Amino acid sequence: MLPVYLIGFMGTGKSTLGRALSLHTGYRFVDLDTEAERLLGATASEAFLRGDAESFRRTESRALEALAGETDVIVACGGGTPCRESNMELMLGSGTVVRLTASRERLLRRLEEAAGQRPLLAGYSGAQLEARVDELMAGREAAYSRAHRIFDATYLENEAEIEATCRRFIEEILSKQNVRGNSSDLSAAIKN
Ligand code: S3P
Repeated sequence: MLPVYLIGFMGTGKSTLGRALSLHTGYRFVDLDTEAERLLGATASEAFLRGDAESFRRTESRALEALAGETDVIVACGGGTPCRESNMELMLGSGTVVRLTASRERLLRRLEEAAGQRPLLAGYSGAQLEARVDELMAGREAAYSRAHRIFDATYLENEAEIEATCRRFIEEILSKQNVRGNSSDLSAAIKN
């Protein structure tokens, strides 16, 4: 299977769903943020805080380039990954790009809970967080909308929801791919 790239705004569930998909299918999971942080030797927050977001973005692109030639890998991108034109071109040309979305209510709840871990949202809450999300999201719409596919990942709040959403992703997206030759092979790859 060519790489499957999960893209979308912060909090749309790219890492949660990617990890669950990996468990269900046996495909390798890579969290691009973690990979970039490992290569950079600093967290995204540290890089952004010292005013060096660009080095994080560059390292993220480097990590992506290394993955583009691989097979059987599910990549959870960072929210900003598709905004760099060359990243998006690389992903569109080397695999399947799937945009995750979530309901506004759930998205804001997830971001409210974890805003401190996200340098672009640090210090925002309530109405200000909402306005910040709207502003960032509007600026990213053009890039996100280039994805090959779109998938609603609203329901990822507990084990049962993750399980159901994961199975729906396999049905709607992965089984439509040329996954390991054909879709019956995919059924065998899905672990219960
Ligand atoms: C970013 C999103 C983050 C991380 C960095 C920048 C963004 O990833 O890459 O903080 O620009 O949207 P997540 O979408 O995984 O939170």
